[in-house]
Amino acid sequence: MTSPDRKTRGRTAPGRLQGLDAYLLHEESALLARREDAWAHAAFVDVGFGEHPWTTLDSARAFRDIHPELPVVGVELEAHRVAAAQEYADALTDFRQGGFSLPLRPGETVRLIRAMNLLRGYRPEDVPGIHHTLGQVLLEGGLLVEGSTDTSGAVLVAHLLRRVPEGLAREALLFHTDFSRGFAPVLFRDWLPRDFRRRVKPGEPIHAFFAQWTEAWAQARATGPLEPPEAFRQSVLGLAERIEGIVTQDWLLEHGYVLWRPRGGVFQ
Ligand SMILES: C[S@@+](CC[C@H](N)C(=O)[O-])C[C@H]1O[C@@H](n2cnc3c(N)ncnc32)[C@H](O)[C@@H]1O
Repeated sequence: MTSPDRKTRGRTAPGRLQGLDAYLLHEESALLARREDAWAHAAFVDVGFGEHPWTTLDSARAFRDIHPELPVVGVELEAHRVAAAQEYADALTDFRQGGFSLPLRPGETVRLIRAMNLLRGYRPEDVPGIHHTLGQVLLEGGLLVEGSTDTSGAVLVAHLLRRVPEGLAREALLFHTDFSRGFAPVLFRDWLPRDFRRRVKPGEPIHAFFAQWTEAWAQARATGPLEPPEAFRQSVLGLAERIEGIVTQDWLLEHGYVLWRPRGGVFQ
């Protein structure tokens, strides 16, 4: 099922998605580096890059540290944004007009699709169809990242959806903060992906998730005055005791990431 593409404001900022880039470089370096068979020229596609292609270019630079020949395609619905981006195009970096049915060329393959900060204007019930439409062009094992950040990128929440033989698995939910806005679990509520954003209400699983996290955070703080990075770390360790699937790797906790990867996938 394909959902209609919609006009959206194009606000973006350099560095806005660098927390996500750092996560992908650390946790998905194998995906970014793969070069066998169809992966040799498999692209990173950034959907909805905005009025300037800053975040596409940031990521191209970052990902090419581990895959110097990585093809990058920026996609935008708005023709004037695509035209303005052309000055940054080069042999490996392309900007094309298009929507969720991605404007790929015959033979092109895709390893990673990012769709950040563009579903706010869409209906939550359209999100599964949008994920499906985007995800169907991924190579098996490829990743779709879809979510939201605040205007500077200090707070981010994203779905990680993996292309598997059966379709697209809702593999994980990723939270990130750089701590510049302090920390409490509620910080993330307004930046949840579109399908969860208005569902932090009693009876909803995402509400239960936040309730458990807030309880773990309050318990951590009760042990003494903790600065945000340490309060965050302790709250995530407490959350991991309450909820299955919280990844408690040191690097993630030290750098402000919560990766929730439940067996059986993230609920709809
Ligand atoms: C708020 S900007 C986000 C820019 C950038 N991704 C970021 O996170 O900073 C959203 C952009 O998505 C574009 N957009 C909305 N729906 C789209 C679609 N279906 N396909 C491609 N681009 C789309 C809009 O035209 C807008 O420029």
